[in-house]
Formats: sequence, structure tokens, C-alpha cells
Amino acid sequence: MSALFFKRFLKRPFQIASIVPSSRALVERVSDKIDFDRARVIAEYGPGEGVHSREIARRMRRDAQLLLFELDPAFSRDLERQFANDPRVHVINDNAAHLPNELARRGIAQCDYIISGIPFSILKIDKKLSLLQQTHDALAPGGSFIIYQVTNELKQHASPIFEEADSEYFLQNIPPMFITVFRKAALKNNGNGAFADSHYSSNQRA
Ligand SMILES: C[S@@+](CC[C@H](N)C(=O)[O-])C[C@H]1O[C@@H](n2cnc3c(N)ncnc32)[C@H](O)[C@@H]1O
Repeated sequence: MSALFFKRFLKRPFQIASIVPSSRALVERVSDKIDFDRARVIAEYGPGEGVHSREIARRMRRDAQLLLFELDPAFSRDLERQFANDPRVHVINDNAAHLPNELARRGIAQCDYIISGIPFSILKIDKKLSLLQQTHDALAPGGSFIIYQVTNELKQHASPIFEEADSEYFLQNIPPMFITVFRKAALKNNGNGAFADSHYSSNQRA
């Protein structure tokens, strides 16, 4: 797995932005921030060779879906192979910026969680802000956007868009990473069903 990671780094150093995948400890810490009892739709930006995706798929509900947006074609082929027998996981060899189209195409209104491993820091400011805004818009009320990054520079850009942010500096990874959870406000007076019922477009509901 790591050999593929290193090869893809050599091919596209700025896009891959790391020579090794996330550590086992980082993967567990990120997954611990997801409430798998409630999560029905999870999207991941930049899964790479799938170190987080495998843990998310292992923990997630049988009726949940995981949408993997990976730009690199070799990683995408490898992810297709790994998840060939798991119909809950969908590999999309495309830019994370195309999430809204992909959700619409699948009749999914909103995600509960969006996890990101893409190198946000190299994106130009207009692309960064637009990806943050569309990520916020794609989340269900009460949903979370979880990122792990070497710097915490995204927080200043994301904080005006998201209603809450919690960061921790996680040392058990090379290099250490900031893990930040940005939350979208929950609906007020929404009763019990609003979070769970908001995932599918009206034409997809039973
Ligand atoms: C640092 S690697 C992280 C890989 C993996 N998530 C991990 O933790 O080991 C970043 C990944 O994001 C992908 N990527 C970068 N920009 C992307 C974008 N705009 N949309 C989808 N994937 C992207 C790269 O191809 C690469 O696989």
C-alpha cells in the first residue's frame, strides 16, 4: 500500500502532498469523531490509498453510504478493487469540488459527515472558499466537516462559514497534524427525525 502512495507522490507531489499515508492512530482518532449510529451518508475528499476509508467502512452502518472523491486515477482504481465487494462504498475519480453534482445525480440531498485529506493549503483562496462553502451547503443540519492538516490555516477561512470549530494537535502521526471538526448548526425545534430524514431528495424518499 505504501509503495503505491510513494509512487503517486513522485508523480504528483503537490496533489498528493505527503509521502506516507495517515498513521493508524490518526485514522482511529478521526473515525472516533464520527457518530456511526447516526451517519447515513459520509463523503471523503482525497482518500488516497484508502487508509481512512477502510476504517470508516468497517465501522459504518449497513445502510450507510460512503462516497470517495479521489482525483488520482491509480488510487481510484486501487480503491475500486478494495471495495469491489462492498456496495455501500462508491469511488468517484473526480475533484471533490464536484460533490454537489454527484449528490444530485445519486438523489442524495445531504451528507452527515465530510472527511477531508486533501491539501487545502495549496488551493488558491477563491477555490478554497468555494470548496468550504459547498461543503457546508452539502451537510445536513448538525453535520460535521472533519479535516486533518499539517497547519491549522484553514480554520481562519472556515470559521466564518461554519457555526462551530474544535481543533486538536495530534502528535501520533508523521508529521503531527491538526484535526479540526467544523460543525454546521443543527435545526432548531427539529424534533427527533430531522437529522435522519434529510438525506435523500424528496423524489427518493419512500
Ligand atoms: C495527503 S493525501 C491523503 C491520503 C489519505 N487520505 C491519507 O490520509 O493517507 C491527499 C490525497 O488527496 C487527493 N486530492 C488532492 N486534491 C484533491 C481534490 N481536489 N479532489 C479529490 N482528491 C484530491 C490526492 O490525489 C491524494 O490522494
